[in-house]
Amino acid sequence: MAEKIAKPFLKWAGGKTQLINDIEKSLPNAITTSKFTYIEPFVGSGAVLFWMLNNFPKLEKAVINDINEDLINTYKIIATKPKELISILKTFQNEYHLLETKQEKKKEYYYEKRETYNLRKKEKSSQAALFIFLNRTCFNGLYRVNKSNGYNVPMGSYKKPTICDDKNILAVSNALQKVEILCGDYEATIEKANKNSFFYFDPPYKPLNETSSFNSYAKDEFNDEEQIRLRNFCTKLENKGHKWMLSNSDVKGKNPNDNFFDEIYSKFLIARVKARRSINANAEKRGSLNELLITNYTYEQALQSA
Ligand SMILES: C[S@@+](CC[C@H](N)C(=O)[O-])C[C@H]1O[C@@H](n2cnc3c(N)ncnc32)[C@H](O)[C@@H]1O
Repeated sequence: MAEKIAKPFLKWAGGKTQLINDIEKSLPNAITTSKFTYIEPFVGSGAVLFWMLNNFPKLEKAVINDINEDLINTYKIIATKPKELISILKTFQNEYHLLETKQEKKKEYYYEKRETYNLRKKEKSSQAALFIFLNRTCFNGLYRVNKSNGYNVPMGSYKKPTICDDKNILAVSNALQKVEILCGDYEATIEKANKNSFFYFDPPYKPLNETSSFNSYAKDEFNDEEQIRLRNFCTKLENKGHKWMLSNSDVKGKNPNDNFFDEIYSKFLIARVKARRSINANAEKRGSLNELLITNYTYEQALQSA
């Protein structure tokens, strides 16, 4: 079978595919000239991870981390047991597609799988398959849990979603062979840094308004105090001589007097890049919604600076 390029196997809020061009322009030069370790402490669906793995031959090793245990279990199963996973997913896909025109039965099937997933009693490979099944069939690919970590997203309205993309699962499994996979708080990743490491942080974004719900990937909230803890961690990395890039929402676009990030990252380089995410549809009216790319180094192709 021809080798396929690995791409994210999940839909995930805040997926970074649309920001890749801007990220590319803001990378440190060293990663194209010498061997390096890539560290992504908030990996989510890994849009930047897979792009880095596919495009940077000098990437010797990668370390990924996320606090979401079910997500990380899925990465680990893809890395170690891709065929077992594919076989379970194929069964789910066949069963689900057979119900294509039977809306009520389809619903029953979805909610039964959601319940089984939430019991978290199946073996790890089945839990990973359930995780992918729910991601592919739920409303908008959302991952949202309640306070007791119960996944509570309703069924989506896709007619015949791809549940088992076997070629991509194999490609991802192959790409993950040089990736160390961690689960926990991002601060633990500092242990993995070496002389030539590059960190990319894509934390839960600071919400642009109170109703904005795309901050709820995990049971714990990522509030302003958490954003400041992350800045402190970035300062620690800076003091140890490590390079990093961080993205976040530009709260100033919504409220010109909101200097939250400009203040907490005032010692670093802040660039504003245009966001083109569909969840920002309302922003078009305001015309100036940006995302922030913050780095602790300068780069040649200066973006429109803050
Ligand atoms: C904006 S998403 C990352 C999106 C990712 N860049 C992508 O392309 O899909 C933020 C991620 O941070 C994780 N997270 C939240 N708090 C965390 C913490 N304290 N330590 C590590 N990961 C955390 C969430 O589970 C979520 O997957």
